Amino acid sequence: MTIIFLVGFMGSGKTSIGCELAAYLEYQFVDLDNLITKEANTTINEIFAQYGEAHFRQLEHKMLKNIIKCQNTVVALGGGTYIEQKNRKLIKKSGISIWLQCELAVILSRLANDSSRPLNRNPQQMQKLLESRLIIYQQTDFQIDITNLTIQDAVKQIKELITA
Ligand code: S3P
Repeated sequence: MTIIFLVGFMGSGKTSIGCELAAYLEYQFVDLDNLITKEANTTINEIFAQYGEAHFRQLEHKMLKNIIKCQNTVVALGGGTYIEQKNRKLIKKSGISIWLQCELAVILSRLANDSSRPLNRNPQQMQKLLESRLIIYQQTDFQIDITNLTIQDAVKQIKELITA
């Protein structure tokens, strides 16, 4: 196994858990949103505002195609990356996917003052978006509920999952 893809809704902890997991496994850590903003040389809000979500999704797919050339890497995907079928295909053939499930209430409280995510408009829309995505997140290879876990415990559980 060379690439571990962390899947999950906005604010579910993909980046913070991914960083720790990569350090633990002595893998490289890559945050997909970070790569996109570097490539576009602007923020995700700006990409959405200037060019629209479809353009963002193209960039996201392009950067994912680059990532799958890597080895021994933990990837924190964006919350919508796994939703695109062509991304799921790439992920499936390149490594293992783990859905970090997290209760919406926790996510909403974490993102209450966050203005960096264009799709985080209001709690009702976040709930609708999450509900529409659940059935797709369920297609991942592994799922863990990280709602009540510390980052260290989440890393421990992921390690147990992938070495079982
Ligand atoms: C998105 C999630 C964001 C980012 C973009 C779109 C989504 O990533 O890719 O704002 O569609 O859920 P995070 O999950 O890291 O916030």
